[in-house]
Amino acid sequence: MGITIKNKKEIDLMRVGGKMLGDIVEELGRMVKAGISSWDIEKKSQALLQHYKVKPAFLNYLGYPCVSCVGLNDTAVHGIPSKDEILNEGDIVSIDMGLIYQGMYLDHAVTVPVGKISSESAKLINVTRDAMKAGINQAKEGNTVGDISHAIQTTAELAGFSVIRQMVGHGVGYQVHEPPQIPCFGEKGTGEMLEEGMTLAIEAMVNAGGAEILILEDGWTTKTQDGKNSAIFEHTIVVGEKKSEILTE
Ligand code: MF3
Ligand code: CO
Repeated sequence: MGITIKNKKEIDLMRVGGKMLGDIVEELGRMVKAGISSWDIEKKSQALLQHYKVKPAFLNYLGYPCVSCVGLNDTAVHGIPSKDEILNEGDIVSIDMGLIYQGMYLDHAVTVPVGKISSESAKLINVTRDAMKAGINQAKEGNTVGDISHAIQTTAELAGFSVIRQMVGHGVGYQVHEPPQIPCFGEKGTGEMLEEGMTLAIEAMVNAGGAEILILEDGWTTKTQDGKNSAIFEHTIVVGEKKSEILTE
């Protein structure tokens, strides 16, 4: 399957589902405080999906066991929530969630502070959000995937951080992961051409130290090799003629 263009009706559905996911992740972010576990975030995620009467997008995807991915500090992406993992003051926590609304898939992630955090951690969060936004700003008709990738990479690297290379953003909508792959690094003007109506999950995955990550024995959790912090921000967007529209806000 190549890159798909969604029609107006499908994009309207994704707008409604995206608003729900934006609200859900915002509420999850608000519950973050020292003393709760990453499993508490998973429980709340399950409850919110039920409240909105929508289905989880991640549960059982390639065998993934939860509806959310939650990762602390040096956990990069796809952290599996656990009762034994307690949030402490000064940690940063990444929350990644997906849902299915009327058959359409949405994907969204944020990184939030636990109480008061170091200025280095705050900078990592801000730069990673900025990198995602710089990528999103490139997602318009006539640009290419490489324009998005390049914007994410330069924003992160100019701040002295590095981007993860083994994981990518992606098309989204009929499934969690569709073409194209959208790396966090790349050259302007390269890769697939963007067209109005493409729906993309643009992800900035940024490490405070080196780019290398390790996948743990659970087959999902990834950690930075050097033990330094990692952050992620991700929005589902629709490519427009002049600019993109964020759906998961
Ligand atoms: N947002 C994550 C990603 O695009 C979610 C993947 S689905 C999961 O990689 F099953 F791995 F959680
Ligand atoms: Co994603």
